[in-house]
Amino acid sequence: MNRREMHGEADTEADAGELGQGWYTESGCSLHEFAALLARRDSPPLRFAGAVGQQIPLYDCRALRRVVADERQRARLQAEWAGVLRDGAGVLVLQRAYEDVGPIDEATAVFESIIRAERANGNSAGDHFAKAGANDRIWNAQEKLCLEAPAVFARYFANPMLAAVAEAWLGPAYQMTSQVNVVRPGGQAQLAHRDYHLGFLTAEEAERFPAHVHQVSAFLTLQGAVAHSDMPVESGPTKLLPYSQRYAEGYLAWRRPDFREYFEAHCVQLPLEKGDALFFNPALFHAAGANRTADVQRMANLLQISSAFGRAMETVDRRRMCEALFRVLRDDREAARMTDAEIEAVIASCAEGYPFPANLDRDPPVGGLAPKSQQAVLRQALDERWSDAALAEALREYDWRRRTD
Ligand SMILES: [Fe+2]
Repeated sequence: MNRREMHGEADTEADAGELGQGWYTESGCSLHEFAALLARRDSPPLRFAGAVGQQIPLYDCRALRRVVADERQRARLQAEWAGVLRDGAGVLVLQRAYEDVGPIDEATAVFESIIRAERANGNSAGDHFAKAGANDRIWNAQEKLCLEAPAVFARYFANPMLAAVAEAWLGPAYQMTSQVNVVRPGGQAQLAHRDYHLGFLTAEEAERFPAHVHQVSAFLTLQGAVAHSDMPVESGPTKLLPYSQRYAEGYLAWRRPDFREYFEAHCVQLPLEKGDALFFNPALFHAAGANRTADVQRMANLLQISSAFGRAMETVDRRRMCEALFRVLRDDREAARMTDAEIEAVIASCAEGYPFPANLDRDPPVGGLAPKSQQAVLRQALDERWSDAALAEALREYDWRRRTD
C-alpha cells in the first residue's frame, strides 16, 4: 500500500505507487501527513536554550560565551543545535550574537553605500522570491564587504558564535557566502519556499532526484540572518513554519496552493533586535514578511553557509579576499586586538577550507593526505609573518595547483 492509498486518495498516474518510496512526486505530497508531522512538537532536550518563543529555541549568547570557549561544552552545545535544526523546530535564534553592535553598524554603512552605487550603475538587484519594488538585495555581499572594507569585514566575522553554529551543522571547512536583503516600508512579503539546493529547482527538476538526495540537500547548507536593524513584527521579520523541515517530500510541496495556504495560516514571526542572528535548516518553509511600518528600513545580512562537500550558490573570489584581509589580520594579531578564536572565525569566513577539487598531477596527495587548503596557506602566512607579496605568490601557486590548463 502506498502513501496515497493509506489516506484514501485516488492513485491516478505514474505517482508514488508506481515509482515506489525511492522517488517523490509533487502530486504525491500529502498536507495531512505534513500537518501530522508539525503537530508532533517534540524536541531533543534543550539544556542551553534560555527560553522558547513561538516554538523556537532562543539562546542568549551572553550566557554562552564561556560555553563556546570550552571544547567539551562547545561540543555539547553544538550537538543540541544540530538536534534542533534536524529534528526539532528546525530554527533557532542566537540573541545578542553581537553583544557589541559596532561592527554591524559599520557593515550597514558599507552595504548602504554599495546599494547606492549599484543603483547608480543601474544594476540594482531584484529579489527572487518577491515582487520587485521596495526591496533591495546585494548579491555576493561577502566578497564586496571584504574588498570594500577589509577591517570592517574582520571585525564583523571575528565572531566565535557564528563559527560555532556553522560547524554544528556543517562541520569544519564550511564556505561562507552572504547576501544583504533590505525591505523598505511598503516592501512586499515573499511567498513561502524552501532554500538551496533543491529549493532552487522547479518541481519537475526536483522530481528527477531520488528521495535520499532530498534528505541530503538540507545537510549541505545552513541558512542564517543577522539582524542589522531592530525588527519588530510589523517590519516583517522572516515568517517561519517550525518543524516543517521534517516533511521529506517538502521540496516538491511548497508551490502547491494547499501547502501555501497552510503556511500562511500557521507560520510564526519573531521580533529580533539588532545584533541577533537566526539560523534555520534550509528545508524549513519560510518567507520574508511584509514591512508595514512607515519608517523601519529592515536590513538583514543573509548568511548562506555551505558544506565543504557542497557547491555554494555564488562564485566568490576568495584569493582577492585573502589578499585584502591579510594585512588587517596581521596588524590585529600583532596589536593583540583579536584573540586566536576570533582570527580563526575570520579566516573561516574568508578563505577556502577544502583543498579539493585539485589537479593531483600538480598537487599529489602525499601519504594519502589532503593537499594544503587556502585557509592553511593564509594561517601559515600569518604565523610566519610573510610579506604581502609572498602571500600573493603562494595564493597564485595554490590556484595553479587546482587548474588543468
Ligand atoms: Fe529563503
